[in-house]
Amino acid sequence: MEKNIALLPGDGIGPEVTDQAVKVLKVIAERFHHQFTFEKGLIGAVAIDATGHPFPEATHDLCKKSDAILFGAIGDPKYDNNPKATVRPEQGLLAMRKQLGLFANIRPVHTYKSLINKSPLKADIISGTDFVVFRELTGGIYFGEKKRSADGNQASDSCVYTRSEIERIARLAFENAMTRHKKLCLVDKANVLETSRLWREVVQVMALGFPEVEVNFMFVDNAAMQLILNPRQFDVILTENMFGDIITDEASVITGSLGMLPSASVGDKNALYEPIHGSYPSAAGKNIANPIGSILSAAMMLELSFAMPLEAAYITRAVEETLSQGWATVDINPDNYIGTQEMGDKIAEHVNEICLHEV
Ligand code: IPM
Ligand code: MG
Repeated sequence: MEKNIALLPGDGIGPEVTDQAVKVLKVIAERFHHQFTFEKGLIGAVAIDATGHPFPEATHDLCKKSDAILFGAIGDPKYDNNPKATVRPEQGLLAMRKQLGLFANIRPVHTYKSLINKSPLKADIISGTDFVVFRELTGGIYFGEKKRSADGNQASDSCVYTRSEIERIARLAFENAMTRHKKLCLVDKANVLETSRLWREVVQVMALGFPEVEVNFMFVDNAAMQLILNPRQFDVILTENMFGDIITDEASVITGSLGMLPSASVGDKNALYEPIHGSYPSAAGKNIANPIGSILSAAMMLELSFAMPLEAAYITRAVEETLSQGWATVDINPDNYIGTQEMGDKIAEHVNEICLHEV
């Protein structure tokens, strides 16, 4: 198959980790006789430096014409520490999500046997955890009206959701639950927020169409606790934009490191794949970042956008084998680790070996 992939490495460690994903994709392309064409675009602080815009028109056009987008990370401390900055790298990511209609962010969380003792949480609590978070990505407080009073002393961000925005992601979550253990948990704050009450209403109605799915509702504060108290209880978690942002960082601790988690951001026409971690500026250029989140995002791309489940499975298997042989980046094992590129090499070698034996 021939596929065009837009590569948006972005800021901080983004370029390093994305390079490793590309390395692995090239092995897959060679072994399966696919043709992957990569074209780079600017986004984030690097785009502001080069063009003045965090999501330039050229990048938008590149995304539109590509079969899928592989994105690295966004963010730069020179903006974080300046609340008065009017142009910010994150605006690029939010604009991209909105303009491309990437309304569903899918973040799978599961444990790896070889990393079970690397998590700060007890092994018997986290072992066997396997759930997926469906985070709404183009609505809510991220995109509501933002205001500051004339004297600068009052600020507000409004949280808005429409029934159809909730329905379209809820449908994906229900459909996914049907392919898994048929359990769906809506995480909200319906005891306080009107938007959450709308979410509950919509999900309750939709549940009638999925009678096999066991649905439950959990307030986000309780969910934050349940995630580390008993993460095995979850199968599919459905939630709004900001709650999803927060609980997935928390959930990454179960896996062993924030650097491990991939994600897919999908819409009706486009799809983007990105590790859930940020730009980790203090590690940039040091060859210490964990590339697995990016490599697994590439695997999700193969599976979800290119209908290549076997190729995707080989990548996840290669990651598991590499980890179980004890190879680790510093975030996973500070006592014995290899670099970003070396981790990319190891995983690419494993993919190659698996392909040689099985393709
Ligand atoms: C994420 C990130 C982004 C978000 C930031 C960089 C704007 O934290 O993808 O989870 O909040 O959505
Ligand atoms: Mg986040």
